[in-house]
Amino acid sequence: MKFNLVYITLAALASFSTIVAAHDGEEHGGNESSASLGSSPTGHGDMSSSTSGAAAAPTMAMGGGHGSNSTSGMPGMPSGGHGNMTTGEPMFPKAPPLSIGVLLFPGFTTIDVFGPLEYFNALSAQQNITLSLISVGSDLTPVSSAIPSHEMTMSDGSVMVMNTPGLIGQSLVPTHTFSNAPKLDLFLVPGGLGSRSLVRDNATLDFVRARWADTQYFATVCTGSGIAAKAGVLDGYKATGNKQSWTWTKQQSDKVNWVPEARWVVDRKAWTSSGATAGMDMTYALITKIYSEAQAKYLAEIMEYEPHTDPSWDPFAVVWGAVSKNSTNSTTTSEAKTGTAAMALVGALSML
Ligand SMILES: *[C@@H]1O[C@H](CO)[C@@H](O)[C@H](O)[C@H]1NC(C)=O
Ligand SMILES: *[C@@H]1O[C@H](CO)[C@@H](O)[C@H](O)[C@H]1NC(C)=O
Ligand SMILES: *[C@@H]1O[C@H](CO)[C@@H](O)[C@H](O)[C@H]1NC(C)=O
Ligand SMILES: *[C@@H]1O[C@H](CO)[C@@H](O)[C@H](O)[C@H]1NC(C)=O
Ligand SMILES: *[C@@H]1O[C@H](CO)[C@@H](O)[C@H](O)[C@H]1NC(C)=O
Ligand SMILES: *[C@@H]1O[C@H](CO)[C@@H](O)[C@H](O)[C@H]1NC(C)=O
Ligand SMILES: *[C@@H]1O[C@H](CO)[C@@H](O)[C@H](O)[C@H]1NC(C)=O
Repeated sequence: MKFNLVYITLAALASFSTIVAAHDGEEHGGNESSASLGSSPTGHGDMSSSTSGAAAAPTMAMGGGHGSNSTSGMPGMPSGGHGNMTTGEPMFPKAPPLSIGVLLFPGFTTIDVFGPLEYFNALSAQQNITLSLISVGSDLTPVSSAIPSHEMTMSDGSVMVMNTPGLIGQSLVPTHTFSNAPKLDLFLVPGGLGSRSLVRDNATLDFVRARWADTQYFATVCTGSGIAAKAGVLDGYKATGNKQSWTWTKQQSDKVNWVPEARWVVDRKAWTSSGATAGMDMTYALITKIYSEAQAKYLAEIMEYEPHTDPSWDPFAVVWGAVSKNSTNSTTTSEAKTGTAAMALVGALSML
């Protein structure tokens, strides 16, 4: 029992202490050595069971996730663990650097961005990850998730202006604009109600097309697949998206092989996921593909998140009427909610 406590503490520190130290360094006047240990996610008291743990933990973090070794006084790893504490082998094999870019636009959905990023934040303690938050704006003004006033085209072709006063949101500071974003290995397009006006922004569609052409992995969450579809990059590809906004998403292109019942869909470089939290499950699969399942599992365990690993698991397809209750993974959509009034209502109430 005691052994496991030490192990869990060390594992958590290896992934998080860099982040915690940076955060606490600002709040507590820069004494990282005391702050990072005192407020680490699992560090309260557990470290006392390992006499040399306090001294060694920061070294582990700076080493980019390498395990410690017996020389430095660490206990060995339990079997089935994530590294070899005896030899000091890295917890996971080092993979090539990964350059990630996330599109930021007013009215993005927070978990579409932060669900996947929670994985990559922790992963960056073990692997070389660089992140660019790329604003659709012309400068680095913070981008708010608050839903902007926007026009929405209903299924009967009428246009409604949607205002959502009183809804809260949070702002994220971008690192790049379209003009200076670096080369990316993975480009992630989140969804959100801001997508409704973004599909009419040619600069964004041009950028999406350019990045599609030279990125290895192109991923979308939620209505982000609508943005990609409008840019034309998903033509001839299988793709999915948010189920509450399924009708809108499909309207962005009839050249996409839309899959109405799927948590996420992979077709060549296109990784598209369903609504909001589905992005986390897609990211689990993506990290499994790029790194290993062991590494993805380790990150999910740190997050205490139980990922869905069956891409066909999608109860929300029925909830939101993308398929009828009797569907068995049929790709022939049978809209349960038909009729202009019902569609308009669904459109008006869509949040993502
Ligand atoms: C940082 O904290 C440690 C432990 O509390 C203390 O020994 C050290 O003097 C502090 N350093 C600074 C620069 O305040
Ligand atoms: C083990 O830890 C000691 C002390 O921190 C260090 O000098 C040594 O290089 C480490 N060995 C390996 C194989 O990492
Ligand atoms: C660690 O490495 C040593 C030396 O290669 C090996 O004998 C031992 O079985 C390894 N331990 C684990 C848990 O893999
Ligand atoms: C990560 O990879 C980039 C690109 O190759 C490189 O410039 C950078 O030095 C690497 N960072 C670390 C910490 O290894
Ligand atoms: C955006 O691109 C479309 C298609 O090329 C074009 O018809 C439209 O005029 C452009 N809109 C603006 C504002 O440039
Ligand atoms: C589902 O199948 C049952 C039995 O074939 C049928 O009675 C029912 O109407 C179907 N429901 C839908 C929503 O298609
Ligand atoms: C869809 O198909 C998969 C196998 O491809 C199966 O595991 C899953 O249960 C099916 N889902 C439904 C709702 O029938």
